[in-house]
Amino acid sequence: MKEDDFLYLQLANKLEQLIIKGVYAVGERLPSVRELHQEHGVSISTALQVYGHLEKKGWIAARERSGYYVQLTPQQRLKLPAPSSPGPAATLVKINDQVRRIREARHSRKTIPLDAPTPATELLPHAKLHKALLQTVRAHQASDLQYSDLRGYEPLRRHIARRCLTWKGTVTASDVIITNGSMEAMSFFLRAVAKPGDTIAIESPTFFGILMSIESLGMKVLEIATDPVTGINLEKLEDAFRKKRVAACLLISNYNNPLGSCMPSANKQALAALLHKYQVPLLEDDSFGELHHGAERPATVKTYDRDGWVLYCSSFSKSLSAGLRIGWAIPGSRFDYQVEQLKFTTTFHTSLLPQLAIYHYLEHQRLDLHLKQLRNALAIQTLQMARAIQQYFPEDTALTQPEGGFNLWIVLNKKIDTWELYQQALEHQIAVMPGSLFSSQQKYQNCLRVSSGIPWSEDLEWAVQTTGRLVKKMLK
Ligand SMILES: Cc1ncc(COP(=O)(O)O)c(C=O)c1O
Repeated sequence: MKEDDFLYLQLANKLEQLIIKGVYAVGERLPSVRELHQEHGVSISTALQVYGHLEKKGWIAARERSGYYVQLTPQQRLKLPAPSSPGPAATLVKINDQVRRIREARHSRKTIPLDAPTPATELLPHAKLHKALLQTVRAHQASDLQYSDLRGYEPLRRHIARRCLTWKGTVTASDVIITNGSMEAMSFFLRAVAKPGDTIAIESPTFFGILMSIESLGMKVLEIATDPVTGINLEKLEDAFRKKRVAACLLISNYNNPLGSCMPSANKQALAALLHKYQVPLLEDDSFGELHHGAERPATVKTYDRDGWVLYCSSFSKSLSAGLRIGWAIPGSRFDYQVEQLKFTTTFHTSLLPQLAIYHYLEHQRLDLHLKQLRNALAIQTLQMARAIQQYFPEDTALTQPEGGFNLWIVLNKKIDTWELYQQALEHQIAVMPGSLFSSQQKYQNCLRVSSGIPWSEDLEWAVQTTGRLVKKMLK
């Protein structure tokens, strides 16, 4: 190797490590070619070679007349999954038992969590939240243990309303109802817009928690074809609207769980127009919207809602703490009354202390800095997970390339039954999520959801390698 070759690789590896450690975060500009030349004593052509190398590996992208930015598009060897093609009939859901079996099996074992539902504790500000809880308890009076505001702590609602500006939402504190996570908000929304026996249009596949809510309310689902990059197929959805087949639709428009798909802004805008045209409500779950890997926060369908057809919800579960159970509903004027009544008649209001603790954290800590670090960690971990899957799984595997959140969807050879794989992996203390949980149609039996919420480690490398080996063995 020539000395110059050696130099450029050395410097490229150094920068790669700085990106992995988050010193240069996703969306940030790297030193200019001239700065690299001056600070590292390399020639301009070597500096250009460094960036060319990092660009080829997918870590960075050049922007015209602006320089090089951390971007993270991994070199993907595996193909993307094809758009889904669910059956055309509306069906009742029956997955509660399956999920219960998984929960019980998980409960009694210590596993390597390739199924983690939140980012790892070390990526979340739990020590600061714990301190906020203690300070809240100390600062408050016995009288705070009385009933409080049905819609939630007003200063917290104001803070949430201000944050909606990040997706260009024009929301005030009085539009917000604090809930016990997005799950409670979604359950209210379903009950506000539909009754038992009604049909809800959903993405296929979708989060099993949503399917379980629909199951427990005796409603049906109509699964709609969904693209792993751009989300739900709007033509198919409009067809269901036109034929009056659905009472409402329910979407995870940003970084769907499990696909990681994110509807482009143009699709969100088009969907808002369809809701208006056919007068169909949309229940929008934006639980992952803050966890974009790139520089920009995606819009929501609510961003484009002009006449109240979108009922929006989100929570702090994926960004601060799932255990404090603080989420929020923004039902919009059309459905606000029903949702408020449902809150009144179920839990009356969300427990005040966790609301105060989250508010204390938001007032005294730098949420944006925390989110920046979290997004960067998730972006890198997602790449590391994708790299390992590509390395250890068979060639005919398909894999999503999410640009936010921490869920990856793996489509295996049709011969693989991922319930069987789930059981075999559990014997090695590895937890994965079988694909059939994400549909009402006994589909996705050859699919798997894995989580990149946990920082990379030798244990994770071993777990992915072992799962890949099990798949290869099952194919023999
Ligand atoms: C899409 C989606 N919505 C809602 C939830 C539950 O969130 P919460 O803790 O806010 O109730 C999850 C949890 O994994 C999820 O993936």
